[in-house]
Amino acid sequence: MSRTDDAVVQLIARDARVIAGVEQLRFFPLAAVSGRGNPAIADAIARAAVDPAGSSILSGTHPAAVALAEELLALVPARDPDAQRRVYLGHAGTDANDVAIRGCRHATGRPRVLAFEQGYHGGLGSAQGVSGVHVAAGAQADPGVWFLPYPDRYRPHTGDAATVVDDVLRRAEAGLAEGTTAAVIVEPLQSDGGLIVPPAGFLAGLRALCDAHGAYLIVDEVKVGLGRTGRTHAFEHQAVVPDVVTLGKALGGGLPLSAAIGPAAVLDEPTASALMTTVGNPISCAAALAVLALVRDGATTRSAEERGAELRSQLEQYAASGRPGAERIGDVRGLGLSLGVELVSGREDSTPDPLLTAKVAYRAWELGAVAYPVRGNVLELTPPLGITAREVERAAAILAQAIDDAATGSVSDEQIAPYRGW
Ligand SMILES: Cc1ncc(COP(=O)(O)O)c(C=O)c1O
Repeated sequence: MSRTDDAVVQLIARDARVIAGVEQLRFFPLAAVSGRGNPAIADAIARAAVDPAGSSILSGTHPAAVALAEELLALVPARDPDAQRRVYLGHAGTDANDVAIRGCRHATGRPRVLAFEQGYHGGLGSAQGVSGVHVAAGAQADPGVWFLPYPDRYRPHTGDAATVVDDVLRRAEAGLAEGTTAAVIVEPLQSDGGLIVPPAGFLAGLRALCDAHGAYLIVDEVKVGLGRTGRTHAFEHQAVVPDVVTLGKALGGGLPLSAAIGPAAVLDEPTASALMTTVGNPISCAAALAVLALVRDGATTRSAEERGAELRSQLEQYAASGRPGAERIGDVRGLGLSLGVELVSGREDSTPDPLLTAKVAYRAWELGAVAYPVRGNVLELTPPLGITAREVERAAAILAQAIDDAATGSVSDEQIAPYRGW
């Protein structure tokens, strides 16, 4: 169907009448009416749907859930090889992070959690409370959570890119030394916060501080884990081993499934304190086992690294091209297929330009590519890991065209007015 097809227009009108605003984050009138998935995952789901052994892991067990937990323990490195670990299976990144945070508080008896400004860990409960993005937008702050800036070389909070890591670690140490913080929760690459790749030494610094002050390190791999950054786990880029790792999104291959992998001391107690009827259901677990087979094979992860490098270099070529929108690119950054393009007022003036960014996203959608604005003026590019080299070229060409068009006034304020975004 084309984007202006009557059926799509009607679908969008019906959606506006019935779907709750609290679960919408819209930047253009996107409607998906069909798709093409991975055949191995589709087969696994179809087979499990015909014979779904059991229904969940709440009141019993079944082979797919146990196999999945065993595979996750093999995939995620252990901080302490002698300590017992457990796997929490959930529905979404939100509940995996919620359970991880509550578990760390319970295990340590400490109330506080260190999180990062502009971070995103989920849309409900404790996971929302540690999400700087939500708190900045007015969500109820969790009184136990304290926030520090995430080290950003392009927009250093200290005014000097060379000092951002030291400054954050110094402030983290001062707070952790009080001995009241149960956990530090951090994204290994801050996604909704603007696709910020932390400088070397940041995660290792947090690791050392957690060890010194008895806090758990939770690394949230929900968005960038399982191959997207060109490594199985994004934390591998900084050579650290977290205490708790949370996974979601890609893990279910499109079905609701998440996991928190961590010490038994964090995930075992109190018994029955995190219950949902269909967690660990056999169909989602079958999909995840097929996903993990792809992750183990490694081809998808290598492809994410290669295609990501191509997309990045094509965008950098555009930025250097002298075309009408090129000087509006302030920065192109990321790891693998988690890329960000920061749009600014001009080469000499790096003032963020959120209006231009909203217009570029809208124009890109009109031309056939999906890119979402994050932190106002950053285009987030997270294409499917199976994207081909030809599709990368087409995506880069569309984005370049969209930036040229939006920069030269082809998208009006009225066109984007219905989309409230964040
Ligand atoms: C880093 C990160 N953590 C957690 C979540 C929450 O995951 P979910 O939307 O599946 O609850 C997200 C969602 O975008 C995310 O990007």
